[in-house]
Amino acid sequence: MERKFNFDQILDRTRERSKTWDFRTLKPGALPMNGAETHYACPIPVREAVKAVADWPIYGYPYFTEEFVNAAAGYQKRRHGWDCNPAWIEFVGGIVPGIAFVLQAVTQVGDQVLMNAPAYSPFRSTVEANDRVVVESMLKVSPEGASFDWEDMERKFSDPGTRAFILCDPHNPTGKCCTMEELARIDTLARQYGVFVIVDEVHADFVFRGRHIPYPTVSEYARLHSAVVINPSKTFNVAGFRTGAVIIPNEGLHAAVNKHILAVKGISRTITGVAAFEACYDGRCDDYADAVCAYVRENLLWLEAFLKTRLSQVSLVRPDGCFVCWLDCNGLGFATQKELMAFLDGTGVMLSDGSDYFADGDGRGYVRMAYAFPRSQLQEALEHLENAVSAL
Ligand SMILES: Cc1ncc(COP(=O)(O)O)c(C=O)c1O
Repeated sequence: MERKFNFDQILDRTRERSKTWDFRTLKPGALPMNGAETHYACPIPVREAVKAVADWPIYGYPYFTEEFVNAAAGYQKRRHGWDCNPAWIEFVGGIVPGIAFVLQAVTQVGDQVLMNAPAYSPFRSTVEANDRVVVESMLKVSPEGASFDWEDMERKFSDPGTRAFILCDPHNPTGKCCTMEELARIDTLARQYGVFVIVDEVHADFVFRGRHIPYPTVSEYARLHSAVVINPSKTFNVAGFRTGAVIIPNEGLHAAVNKHILAVKGISRTITGVAAFEACYDGRCDDYADAVCAYVRENLLWLEAFLKTRLSQVSLVRPDGCFVCWLDCNGLGFATQKELMAFLDGTGVMLSDGSDYFADGDGRGYVRMAYAFPRSQLQEALEHLENAVSAL
């Protein structure tokens, strides 16, 4: 049977201005497993929608319709079971800008903003660039997966200086996906100590066990004291459009966030980006979302088996979702993170340095690997790594 999507296809990304495949810096033959993106062709309805805009010879000021917010709300309803009101949604030019707008509205200069570590480093930089203070709560990691340190979480939530918590669910870099019990516990802490919760759900389509639970669905309190940031960028490989949306159900807080969005009037909202966003989310690409998640999950199963049988010096922190994973490389025996990274650099497999994921810059012997590649590329890269480790 002919497959509808060919995720095995290797695309020459030198034609693209891809940051991950930057051939000005990438060594020939190296595989950049350090970019949190997939390497699959984006869905045809998206390409058609963008082409339809591009084919007309004028790119003038656009008017915007309700289709953008309706598409985003519809996707939340269909895919994640959240009865999301389109009126709660605003366009933002990316997840991190969305978080920044919310921080500006719900916290003050000097306030503490809590996040789990390891953390996607732009969370830290946006908090700091907005003159707020980063506080980390370390996740506990083991081969079984990542988990919250609840004692530490309560200590940090209860600090009167802590005004907001950035939750990344599914979590980059560990692939941890929150259960209902965990989200309810966060909600209890948030309620008890008056901490606003900002949730980055950009990886929500990649959940391998159970289903993704949008944080605001946990309770009425959570709905009214949180903001969720979403983007089709990861699922559909459309990050270059710089789209995104922030969802704030609380009317007063929504207005407060919107004031900051309006202060930079229309930033990054383009006719092509809006067309792509709508095509991703309005139902035309749901089958692609299912198929890409299934393919990536197969990659993970393959990767897990490979590490266990052929590269046991590297230990996987078992992810529940996402397409990045957190690898414990302490078994390779390097004395420092710098030596570990120098070794990996020479293998032709580019991985993200664990040092980038902690405020203290100590990588603790960990790296992040992105594995949403055509399977043959993934296999080739892991074999390179295996050979290099054998030669150590
Ligand atoms: C957890 C997380 N949030 C946000 C982003 C960036 O999102 P956007 O496509 O909106 O720039 C990434 C990309 O790596 C990510 O992994």
